[in-house]
Amino acid sequence: MRAGGGMRKSAGARVGKALRPALCLALVACGTDEAADGPLTAEQRLDPQACAECHPTHHKEWSGSMHAYAGEDPVFRAMNARGQRETNGALGDFCVKCHAPLAVEMGLTKDGLNLDEVPAHLRGVTCIFCHSATRVTGESNNPVIRADDGVMRGGIADPVPNPAHGSVRSSLHDGASLTSSKLCGSCHDIVTPNGLHLERTFAEWKESIYALEDSRFRNSCVSCHMPGRDGVAAEFEGVPLRRIHDHGNAGVDVALTDFPEREAQRERVQLALNSTLLTELCVVSVSGGADIEVYVENVGAGHSFPSGASQDRRLWLQLVARAGAETLLETGTQGDTEALPEPGEDPDFWVFRDVLYDAQDEITHDFWAAARLTKEVLPAPNGALPGEPDYVNVHVPRRYRVIGPTPDRIDMVLKLRPMGLEVLQELVLSGDLAPEVVAAMPTFTLESTALTWTPETAESRVSTYSDRPALCVGLNGQSRRRTAPGR
Ligand code: HEC
Ligand code: HEC
Ligand code: HEC
Ligand code: HEC
Ligand code: HEC
Repeated sequence: MRAGGGMRKSAGARVGKALRPALCLALVACGTDEAADGPLTAEQRLDPQACAECHPTHHKEWSGSMHAYAGEDPVFRAMNARGQRETNGALGDFCVKCHAPLAVEMGLTKDGLNLDEVPAHLRGVTCIFCHSATRVTGESNNPVIRADDGVMRGGIADPVPNPAHGSVRSSLHDGASLTSSKLCGSCHDIVTPNGLHLERTFAEWKESIYALEDSRFRNSCVSCHMPGRDGVAAEFEGVPLRRIHDHGNAGVDVALTDFPEREAQRERVQLALNSTLLTELCVVSVSGGADIEVYVENVGAGHSFPSGASQDRRLWLQLVARAGAETLLETGTQGDTEALPEPGEDPDFWVFRDVLYDAQDEITHDFWAAARLTKEVLPAPNGALPGEPDYVNVHVPRRYRVIGPTPDRIDMVLKLRPMGLEVLQELVLSGDLAPEVVAAMPTFTLESTALTWTPETAESRVSTYSDRPALCVGLNGQSRRRTAPGR
């Protein structure tokens, strides 16, 4: 039953295409299953479908997002199942309270093992979870406080009244305010039950140039991940044209099973990845051969890259150096379905990721078992200049020496696999993951990192790495910072 149905007829006067047929409007109790002529009940508010009627674009974009997928994600379910088994249930609701927070709040699951029994609209990070948030009491592990009061918090200061819910602007939700990063950061930062600060996206952002109140750099999570465009916030009569925000929240993960908006989401990810990094490649002649120097710089991400689950991510350099028909160096040319070398297996393989070690100091993929980690990722700039104590070198170098003839052609590019196949294979072997999920894992090519070096196309300059005369292509030894797509 709907509380107070039909009581807000003054708002109803504005109502246009989104509303029920006139007959329905006249009846107090009609359409209990749908939104329209009165406030949504607490139960209706939980269902994204109830929002779709007036917010079809938001619903469509969200439905393909990893937020919608968070409780479905077969890899999440497999890892959680393995973790529960290996810890004898000690993990409890640790994982599921971020991946399906409402189901935990409502007492429908204690460990995430029974998600199939939880109604689909209560799995995942849903509309109401974000839009009813009133306070965030910490900086990791989802300390979000909600108010179930029928008021939707957003970034609009002068919302047009509507009969379904109240509306109010909140700085936690307004991407123009840096405070909004606290809402996102609350889940995008994980401290494990062992006390290891494992996933650090929020912490990294806070240390970056983007968290400074300086209009040249400032960018909240929302300003980069939910870019604005002109449109209507609701299919509802009398609403003005405004900045509305993409709810696809593209990152690096994509749905690995049949899921709405799968292709659109994959395109979003590819587009974002195409401008995240820049590279430079220099060749210095040395006696008996040459030094190939590669530099990679994070120009787009507002935190390290990769970030978050960087223990599972694989971002690596593919490089082939040739002299005539001879291959002088070849690294990272594994095919899209091939597993990659693990740490120590191939000294030439340059990969950006975290490596986890358990209490016995063995490498592990089980993040609940991690006791420490090593990190090789691309940091975000923090605003300090070279020479200052807090300076971070964002121009990350690596040198390869080749012996023999001087190369006449070098091709390089960076590749990204959202999750290593070796991590997934382990879950298949323990019986927690279906093998077809592994086959669905994409490998992305980061277009802005592709360089071809030849002596003819390269430019003569001094190498940043070694201060020696070099022939270089790509980024000219300087940081080129990019700002967000714009809100
Ligand atoms: C009967 C139509 C209708 C339904 C159903 C509806 N909304 Fe709205 N909503 C609106 C209108 C109209 C606005 C104001 C848009 C504007 O002013 O541009 C709005 C505004 C919002 C805002 C912005 C608030 C602000 O001040 O920034 C949020 C967030 C929101 N709705 C979320 C939801 C969610 C979540 C649901 C489902 C639980 C939902 N809405 C269901 C019509 C509706
Ligand atoms: C992960 C959190 C999150 C989820 C999940 C989410 N939203 Fe939002 N939404 C936001 C934020 C943040 C903004 C405000 C952006 C701004 O104004 O800078 C927003 C803005 C809005 C607005 C105002 C118009 C606009 O685009 O700025 C509407 C309407 C809205 N959301 C509806 C929905 C609906 C409907 C769903 C579910 C289908 C949903 N949201 C899911 C975070 C979320
Ligand atoms: C200056 C823009 C910018 C800001 C600010 C920013 N990001 Fe990102 N983020 C990116 C880019 C670019 C990528 C890489 C391309 C992609 O995956 O979309 C990325 C990637 C991600 C990913 C994918 C995981 C990975 O391995 O990198 C997550 C999750 C993420 N960001 C969350 C956040 C959160 C949470 C915040 C705020 C605390 C935030 N981002 C702030 C630009 C930004
Ligand atoms: C309730 C916890 C929660 C909140 C709050 C939250 N997220 Fe997320 N977010 C998740 C989870 C869980 C996933 C990953 C789901 C999966 O892949 O299984 C995710 C995925 C993402 C991704 C895609 C990451 C990838 O690997 O591709 C981006 C980008 C992102 N969120 C941005 C945001 C932004 C921006 C906000 C704030 C408006 C936000 N999130 C708020 C839990 C949250
Ligand atoms: C504090 C909130 C939080 C907790 C706790 C949490 N996750 Fe996540 N999870 C996220 C977010 C946010 C992402 C988005 C990806 C990222 O940050 O890189 C994610 C992504 C994932 C992914 C997909 C991406 C990947 O490469 O791993 C899996 C699988 C996953 N989580 C499994 C788990 C398991 C299993 C647990 C418990 C052992 C867990 N998560 C605990 C927030 C959480």
